[in-house]
Amino acid sequence: MNLLAIETSCDETAAAVIAETGDAAKPWAIRSNVVASQDAIHREWGGVVPELASRQHLRDICGVVDRALEQGAVTWNDIGAVAVTQGPGLVGSLLVGVSFAKSVAWTRGIPLVPVHHLAGHIESLVLHHGELPLPAAVLVVSGGHTSLYLVGEPGRYQLIGRTRDDAAGEAFDKVAKLLGLGYPGGPILDRVARTGNDRAYAFPMPRMTHADRFQPRATAPLGLLPPDLARQVDFSFSGLKTAVMRTVKAGGARREPGLSADALAKTEGGTALEAADVADIAASFQRVVVEALLDRTFDVASWLGAKSLGIAGGVSANSRLRAEAEARGAKLGLPVFVPPLSLSTDNAAMIGAAGLRKFRTGVIADWELNALASLPL
Ligand code: KG4
Ligand code: ZN
Repeated sequence: MNLLAIETSCDETAAAVIAETGDAAKPWAIRSNVVASQDAIHREWGGVVPELASRQHLRDICGVVDRALEQGAVTWNDIGAVAVTQGPGLVGSLLVGVSFAKSVAWTRGIPLVPVHHLAGHIESLVLHHGELPLPAAVLVVSGGHTSLYLVGEPGRYQLIGRTRDDAAGEAFDKVAKLLGLGYPGGPILDRVARTGNDRAYAFPMPRMTHADRFQPRATAPLGLLPPDLARQVDFSFSGLKTAVMRTVKAGGARREPGLSADALAKTEGGTALEAADVADIAASFQRVVVEALLDRTFDVASWLGAKSLGIAGGVSANSRLRAEAEARGAKLGLPVFVPPLSLSTDNAAMIGAAGLRKFRTGVIADWELNALASLPL
């Protein structure tokens, strides 16, 4: 069967056609995967403007779906079901996809499958690599989420840890903005960091070392981890972001002043920083984020006896995160899976994969299906 998938949870309008292969080890194949990015629209504002995003989805959705059918070499008659991201995300954006998918399901008389955006990110790994050795520890790290799941059996996701404040992608974007690097910040910071010294600045490593008095309960289900370990699994990035902000405000505060004006880059607050300092701050920040993410994820994988480790979501495109995860995995003999770049950031192919998984367990939405800004997985 071919399934049409639609994703409009944030600022990409995406549609894909996914086919079932009949091979249990690698159950799905991509026939087409079309993404219309809204970066050019939101760049001017330095972040996603929800109202503009939903209006642009409306303009793009028909053309994107047409292209997905065309590139997949299928017609409407070849589509057996339609899957759509129900949440979490921007509700105005989600509603465009949900309404469109309902119309398709109604007019074509085919089943409608609701998909959780993060299930899509997790299944992007299976879509590309085939079923993972289970149990797997899977880190979903994106602009809106930093969540660590245990996948004990296909399609079953248990939340083990999550961020207590900012998502890692959000921290990348904010720090890139502070450094005056432009939008979207994550990929630019990744590029700039390659030329910097990652030990130039000693930013604090965000770590939950004790029971947080505001969040005394751990995220992991009771009994899965020893209580003292369970409480250390959550992530936090707001302190790190503040440390970078202080450094930027202090003008780098590491080298002597007296640099020539053309060697100075303008940061968000108008502070003049030498371009080399910008690269050093970016590299030092990125080193700490990557370590914080991987320390926790590899610890959990080992505590839970995981047979593989996955990293998905937009930040999994980060070159340092990918390289270090693979190096650590190789050292430990633990298989590490990351999606190809085309499936790291938001796309509909991953929603199609998660949609087929759900459809085959009998999950079908009715006409009451609504978009939800927040939705537990
Ligand atoms: O999964 P995604 O496309 O959207 C959400 O579901 O949030 O993730 C987008 C996030 C953004 O914060 C973006 O800056 C970040 O992923 N990102 C990166 C890189 N590429 C995308 N962060 C660091 N390094 C990258 N190469
Ligand atoms: Zn995403």
